[in-house]
Amino acid sequence: MSTAPHPGTLSRDQLEAFWMPFTANRQFKASPRLLARAEGMHYFTPDGRPILDGVAGLWCVNAGHGRREITEAVARQVATMEYAPPFQMGHPPAFELAERLVKLTPAGLDHVFFTNSGSESVDTALKIALAWHRVRGEGTRTRLIGRERGYHGVGFGGISVGGIVNNRKTFGAMLPGVDHLPHTHDLARNAFSRGLPAHGAHLADELERLVTLHDASNIAAVIVEPIAGSTGVLMPPVGYLQRLRDICTKHGILLIFDEVITGFGRTGSAFASTEFGVVPDMITAAKGLTNGAVPMGAVFVRKEIFEAFMTGPEPAIELFHGYTYSAHPVACAAGLAVLDIYARDGLLTRAKSLHAYWEDAVHSLRGSPHVIDVRNYGLIAGIELAPIAGKPGARAYQALTSAFEKGILIRTTGDIIALSPPLIIEKQHIDQLIGTLTEVLAGLD
Ligand SMILES: Cc1ncc(COP(=O)(O)O)c(C=O)c1O
Repeated sequence: MSTAPHPGTLSRDQLEAFWMPFTANRQFKASPRLLARAEGMHYFTPDGRPILDGVAGLWCVNAGHGRREITEAVARQVATMEYAPPFQMGHPPAFELAERLVKLTPAGLDHVFFTNSGSESVDTALKIALAWHRVRGEGTRTRLIGRERGYHGVGFGGISVGGIVNNRKTFGAMLPGVDHLPHTHDLARNAFSRGLPAHGAHLADELERLVTLHDASNIAAVIVEPIAGSTGVLMPPVGYLQRLRDICTKHGILLIFDEVITGFGRTGSAFASTEFGVVPDMITAAKGLTNGAVPMGAVFVRKEIFEAFMTGPEPAIELFHGYTYSAHPVACAAGLAVLDIYARDGLLTRAKSLHAYWEDAVHSLRGSPHVIDVRNYGLIAGIELAPIAGKPGARAYQALTSAFEKGILIRTTGDIIALSPPLIIEKQHIDQLIGTLTEVLAGLD
């Protein structure tokens, strides 16, 4: 095998051992895109080329890169106590972080269970839903309902309720007793909507159909993303989330909002639940919780859910669930430092003040070649491209590589470009991002 240095810093051989996630490994390794350093709004390639970050890493670096306070907090915590067991033991930063986090969630969601990722948060929330019904004597409520085109991570629970074909089709039977609501994407009626699309609230009524089919006494929970990110930035139609809330309440079904990408300021509020004025029974989170600096996830639950578990004998463990790294001290230290930055710099609501500028900028892409929809909310945008006949995803992938060559980082899923920049973005960065994207689109096949 060749050991000749590859453009960048790693040879083809050096790239071999790492089985890369959600990546076309052979294609990537033939032509790698490497990032070596990051600061503020930028990544830098190994040869020092700046890449403007249009996606906050992967929807997580909300406070921008290289924040000194996070680095110092993490270093301090590693030096003080790198690890502490979370089972039957505790450490102060975990309690402090929990207490501060539940002040950001909608009123009533005042307890938090820590995980290490969005996937773990989802599986934890689904387990809590099942266990909650059981501790209340409604153990027949075992069915879970997700949505087509939903993404809830890669655990067996998450892919079972998720609705992405490729994430499901090769992994066997998955969880039994799962149904899916229809997705809400309706290009014919909602294309080029600014903010929430007008049409589609009635799609929530499909939940009533499932209740009629199975009976509410068999249904535990519904899980949806308030804004679906990974399946192409799908905004909830006006009134849709409230309708889901009403139907869940009517039938005693728990409503879980998966806010792994919408949490921590992405929509202009700390959580999309607050932004949209619809309060679920649980919120799953991760990503912006630590600014991506240390893996961490969280599940926020309503007081009544927590309290239902606190009724047995006091020496009994109430929930047989947890991770070696739940409330990891280093993640907690990062989380606390991040919350300080969010508060000090007003980042959790900054998307609101930039919203109009962002909206106009992204909608200027209407009319660029191949663009069949532009959608936006907060500091989020989706730009949908017409696919090349017989080659789904190929056009957007070309956009990704061309964008990287031209110095911007975007994300693509299918033929949709997703933008979700760090919340520290300034107007001149928006101009650069959208200006470069305009050039990219003009050059696509
Ligand atoms: C809505 C949603 N849920 C869950 C996840 C999974 O998170 P993780 O990759 O941290 O497991 C993601 C990741 O993008 C997500 O967008």
